[in-house]
Amino acid sequence: AKAPVRVTVTGAAGQIGYSLLFRIASGEMLGKDQPVILQLLDLPQAQKAVKGVMMELEDCAFPLLAGMIATDDPAVAFKDTQVALLVGARPRGPGMERKDLLTENAKIFTVQGAAIGQYADPNVKVLVVGNPCNTNAYIAKATATKFGRVKPGNFTAMLRLDHNRALSQLAAKSGRDVSSLKSLVVWGNHSPTMYADYRYVTSNGDNVKALINDETWNRDTFLPTVGKRGAAIIEARGLSSAASAANAAIDHIRDWVLGSNGEWVTMGIPSDGSYGIPEGIIYGFPVTTANGEYKIVQGLEIDEFSRDRMNFTLKELEEERAGVADLLA
Ligand code: NAI
Repeated sequence: AKAPVRVTVTGAAGQIGYSLLFRIASGEMLGKDQPVILQLLDLPQAQKAVKGVMMELEDCAFPLLAGMIATDDPAVAFKDTQVALLVGARPRGPGMERKDLLTENAKIFTVQGAAIGQYADPNVKVLVVGNPCNTNAYIAKATATKFGRVKPGNFTAMLRLDHNRALSQLAAKSGRDVSSLKSLVVWGNHSPTMYADYRYVTSNGDNVKALINDETWNRDTFLPTVGKRGAAIIEARGLSSAASAANAAIDHIRDWVLGSNGEWVTMGIPSDGSYGIPEGIIYGFPVTTANGEYKIVQGLEIDEFSRDRMNFTLKELEEERAGVADLLA
């Protein structure tokens, strides 16, 4: 039998946590032969609720669940962890400015980054889901790597929900099965500024952009629909997306750990300067994954429309980075 993998989930008592933990424990993220130990972090006032979730996890009698702990101490939660899902974050409250949201979250991700940098397994794979996820990942990376144990490339942000949302819209428009669609890219920030680039998408060898043959639809329907999907879910459900976010987190980690078999997937990763994106910024890129590593898909032609969109979402990330610069100094 395989040795268990330690998986940390923060915000374990939250909505996404409730959709995520059971799927991790059932083997959907790391494989049906991979035991896991869950290390659950949440705030002191949420510990009772975390205990309730753990009771339900027990009641599932998952064969792969080799252990679990709950804590409000990041040093304990991240100890020896090999996969860390940073879901918990400070939500935007009434009257809260964007700048306040950034600063409040910067504090959380500085503390958690420091704990990862000191206590996690040096090869830990970190996925930040809590928003603003690209900049939170940037902060965790900057703080953690000061300790010299964990590499910057191990810090990623979740663009996979945008990727999956875009795939579904393309499937509906083209009439093709969603499973047949390959080679989508979502560039940039996980925010309405992200750029879902469908120029390379194929379905059974056919170019999907050519099949759709409607640039007005791309600009005026597709991009706004994907960009504002989160708000549309809140409007319809009265709550933000949780099950689809958890599903995307599972997809992101599963592909990173187990490989994408040559297919492109979107991950928010520290730029290496590819496509003119400044080094270190956490930006959505097309990647392929194998042997636990991701590699940016190179050589894609960037036309003028795409470059404008890529710069627009980059500009927002640069502003967010400037907004937290003093906290990282
Ligand atoms: P929620 O409010 O239901 O749960 C958040 C949990 O995090 C709560 O249990 C809270 O106590 C906990 N928490 C807050 N601060 C914490 C800290 N410092 N340490 C540990 N735990 C802490 O929120 P939900 O719906 O689960 O969403 C979580 C985050 O995910 C939000 O920031 C949301 O914006 C983000 N999100 C990101 C998506 C993406 O595509 N990247 C998609 C959907 C949501």
